[in-house]
Amino acid sequence: MAILSTQKSSQSLFEQFNTTRERTLELVKTLEKDDFVVQTAYYMSPPKWHVGHVSWFYEVVLSKTNQNYQFYSKEFSDYLNSYYQQFGEPQDKGKRGLVSRPTVDQIFEYFDTISNRVREFFNSDKLDGKAKYLFTIAFHHECQHQELLVYDLQHLLADIYKPVKKNQRLRPVAIEQKSVEIKGGLYAMGYNGSDYCYDIELPEHKVYLNDYKIDAFPVTNSQYLQFIDDEGYQDFKFWLSDGWKKVKQEKWTAPMYWEKENDKWYVQDFLGKRKVNPNEPVCHVSFYEADAYCKWAGKRLPTEAEWEKAACWDEQKQTKTIFPWGNDEPSENHANLLESYLWAQTEIGSYPDGKSPAGCHQMIGDVWEWTTSEFAGYPGFKTGFDEYNEKWFTNQKVLRGGSFGTPRISIRGSYRNFFRLEERWLISGFRCAEDV
Ligand SMILES: [Fe+2]
Repeated sequence: MAILSTQKSSQSLFEQFNTTRERTLELVKTLEKDDFVVQTAYYMSPPKWHVGHVSWFYEVVLSKTNQNYQFYSKEFSDYLNSYYQQFGEPQDKGKRGLVSRPTVDQIFEYFDTISNRVREFFNSDKLDGKAKYLFTIAFHHECQHQELLVYDLQHLLADIYKPVKKNQRLRPVAIEQKSVEIKGGLYAMGYNGSDYCYDIELPEHKVYLNDYKIDAFPVTNSQYLQFIDDEGYQDFKFWLSDGWKKVKQEKWTAPMYWEKENDKWYVQDFLGKRKVNPNEPVCHVSFYEADAYCKWAGKRLPTEAEWEKAACWDEQKQTKTIFPWGNDEPSENHANLLESYLWAQTEIGSYPDGKSPAGCHQMIGDVWEWTTSEFAGYPGFKTGFDEYNEKWFTNQKVLRGGSFGTPRISIRGSYRNFFRLEERWLISGFRCAEDV
């Protein structure tokens, strides 16, 4: 039986690998060759770099399973190393678009070669427990880059990008925009399932929470417009000092990708240039903007523990689940994730089947939600992969829940994303909490 189950799990890892590689190719399938090379901001990366980098990461894993592993090419490694000092001095991230070699064709050849090396490894007798774990990290790493690619494609092309798959959005149900009350006490936070999770979701540990209220829906454009109309961007009193500096420096007057024309707000996204939809969650706001809105509204951002408890805890049954709807893998009716292929956030009330026992909607999918928590290791944190997560335990805030750009395999209630406080090219929104 043990051998059978090992074989089965190798088989499913192999399938996961192939699916992940196919989806990376699918995301860039309709690009013109010229699109692959351009870097439109220092914080985005050219598509060519992503395609190469996710492949390079499999080389990193291969090198950790075989001391004599020979990297494909030093030139490729130098260009494709993002930030791993253990593999030499990484290049300046802001200059990835200045590099014409390796060429796009060479990067695709590299992609195929590395895929084949991984397939050979899977077919060998070297796939032990450690190797399985490392390759699982590598699939998840590739999925994270698929989402980054979505952010970058919006920055680079927006609606000029033609996705291979695009579905119609669901009709939302009638809703009441309210907040729900959650009972405090000790809450065991972190991943408690038996599948894969990142090191930063562990160990599960107890935190004490006061009673609190949290919004049943993410903050909508219509709510956020009230903040804008009330001159929220013009009044320092709502802003953290660093946030106010940023507002002045960058001349922020609205979320990223918004434009005002004849007194009407428009957004430029994958669906084109369109009027801001009042019922969609607000998107492309920084932590500073989310925090300022909350202050203006007389509320606050939730901590990540408060967010997680509202998403995954069933007070009646006294149990925690992996997702707000239970332990089943996400389906099209649960949440708006990458495989929904909607290419935008959906109106609130679009996923009644995905709501949490506490009554919170759209916690998974649509937009990542800023929390007020600093990104750091949980008490008892042990690294699962050197330099992957723990070197970022400073100056970042945690976001929870995933977005319409997040692959299904990447997300669960305990997943912790993290970004710097001023970043807003990601698919980021928020919901408010309150003390009771
Ligand atoms: Fe990476």
